[in-house]
Amino acid sequence: MRIRCRDLGMNYEERGSGRPLLLIHGYPLNHTLWEPQLDALADQARVIAPDLRGHGQSEPMPGPYSMDLLADDCNALLDALGITQPVVMGGLSMGGYVTFAFYRKYAARVAGLILAATRAGVDSPEAKTNRLKAIELVRDPTQGPSAIAQMMLPRLLAPQTYATRPELVKQVHRILLSVSPEGMIGDLMGMLERPDSTPTLAQIDRPTLIVHGADDPLISPQESQAMHAGIKNSRLVILPGAGHLPNLEQPELFNEAVRDFLRAL
Ligand code: MLT
Repeated sequence: MRIRCRDLGMNYEERGSGRPLLLIHGYPLNHTLWEPQLDALADQARVIAPDLRGHGQSEPMPGPYSMDLLADDCNALLDALGITQPVVMGGLSMGGYVTFAFYRKYAARVAGLILAATRAGVDSPEAKTNRLKAIELVRDPTQGPSAIAQMMLPRLLAPQTYATRPELVKQVHRILLSVSPEGMIGDLMGMLERPDSTPTLAQIDRPTLIVHGADDPLISPQESQAMHAGIKNSRLVILPGAGHLPNLEQPELFNEAVRDFLRAL
């Protein structure tokens, strides 16, 4: 569905009713990342999964996409949908960076947080250099977003998933190919400049579920252990047999963790 949010035509999917559960995808993905959650959690929440600007069917806008800007888009989406009730906000990886920014700006709108396959800290100098190289690759007409997609694919999934689940690998590849060049560059520039969310951890006083794949090749599960130590009212679930996309690789286990969390709210 398409809705006007400030300057942006934003696409989103929604299922169910009750407490809103806003699910934010990572880089360079789109809302279909949350397909295994949209229907499965609809009996317990109003599940809303947007495409961030430049992703999926939302409008491609020139970047950079700061995490604050993406959080403002999420806030505008809630306004456009007429949602006044506090929401559970869940973000995967870059979606987690957006979730931290959203909490800093709009804490009154937050009933609980889900942080999946993400981290609080900033990029290392090496990671920043790699982001700049990736921006150059996207701009290079002989490479473009598909070159990044090819490089990222094996790093998004647990080695075992990548080796044994070709259908899932194809599905993730399709998602990666759907991002616009503007979206990719906007994200990379925004992530490069993102602020450190480590000081935010001690400020979070909402129930928080932290989920991480045990075999995440991109972000170490230790990052989630550190967030768990820093957020007072948090619960940590490490999912076996999952890499960077635990909600796709282990949907039943992921959904069970979210269900338990929502029930306890
Ligand atoms: C993501 O999955 O959102 C990104 O890979 C996160 C990152 O590059 O820091």
